[in-house]
Amino acid sequence: MAVTVVLFVIAYCSTFEVAAGDGTVSVKCPRVIHGTIGEETVIRCPVKAPSDVRLKDLNWKAPDSRVYILGHSSVDQGKGGRFEVGWDKDKMEVWLGMSNTQMADEGDYKCFVRTDSGYVGDDEGCGVNLKVTARYTVPTIWSVPQKNLEEDMTVTMYCMAEKGYPRGTIHWFDQYGTNWTSSAIMTVEQTTGRWFKLMSTFTVLRASSSSSFYRCKVIGGNGQEEGTAELSLMFREPAKSTQKWSNNSIAAIVVVTGSVSTGILLLLLLKRRRPRYDEVHEAVPEHGEENEKDDAEREMRDEMKENEGGTACMENATGM
Ligand SMILES: *[C@@H]1O[C@H](CO)[C@@H](O)[C@H](O)[C@H]1NC(C)=O
Repeated sequence: MAVTVVLFVIAYCSTFEVAAGDGTVSVKCPRVIHGTIGEETVIRCPVKAPSDVRLKDLNWKAPDSRVYILGHSSVDQGKGGRFEVGWDKDKMEVWLGMSNTQMADEGDYKCFVRTDSGYVGDDEGCGVNLKVTARYTVPTIWSVPQKNLEEDMTVTMYCMAEKGYPRGTIHWFDQYGTNWTSSAIMTVEQTTGRWFKLMSTFTVLRASSSSSFYRCKVIGGNGQEEGTAELSLMFREPAKSTQKWSNNSIAAIVVVTGSVSTGILLLLLLKRRRPRYDEVHEAVPEHGEENEKDDAEREMRDEMKENEGGTACMENATGM
């Protein structure tokens, strides 16, 4: 009796092995599949088998070792009935669907397919690694101090995004597109439920109002850009101080400046005249000098007379 049982087991197992080994049935799952938290994820694995193949068993083993079996209703499939097992004969694929994908669903899923033409286990490619991602919240950006910045002031900017998975990163750019990421410091916090919270701190030692625009970008765990936030540093507005001057005071200034400049002009005129007056006084000739002056005048008059005669001679000369 014991012998027949053993023989039966060997026979049973060997028929499976032959069927699996002859290559009539094969399953090719993708190695990695990405699911998004809160959304539906379906793992699909194409099956290669004769077209008239009949599926006898299909089950999936989840990372938590639960087994989901074809033919059992979704409600029976555990975790609040989120899982469903299927076989699509037209597409020739086996699948495992899960609604409301959760972080805990991440890991290796193994399938087992038994048909009338052979069977395939996870050793033969019936397995998938599920990676779960969660999109980060739209980042928030702010500066300290927040406003009334002065030129050359040291300003620290912050950029924060949370509820993402897996770990992502934050990049910084200025208005010219210069990448400042390497000057920033990022801290990563893993909150309850395995979510990540990213916070990046970027300090500008000498802020300038001519380059006041900054942008931070959140790169999700899968390397995709997930969100951007922009900030224009708020400098103290110089326009406000000029507005303090009322029209009346401007008019008063004009009047005052006008009278001051008139005064200066008058002073300048007097100054120009006074030296002349002084010169005249200083130059009051002494007696001898006056005589010399008279002599000089007489000489000049004589010379002029001579010249008159001279020119006449010259005219005569040219007439010759
Ligand atoms: C910016 O710099 C960071 C690190 O320095 C780098 O990882 C990233 O790819 C850069 N981004 C761009 C758009 O150049």
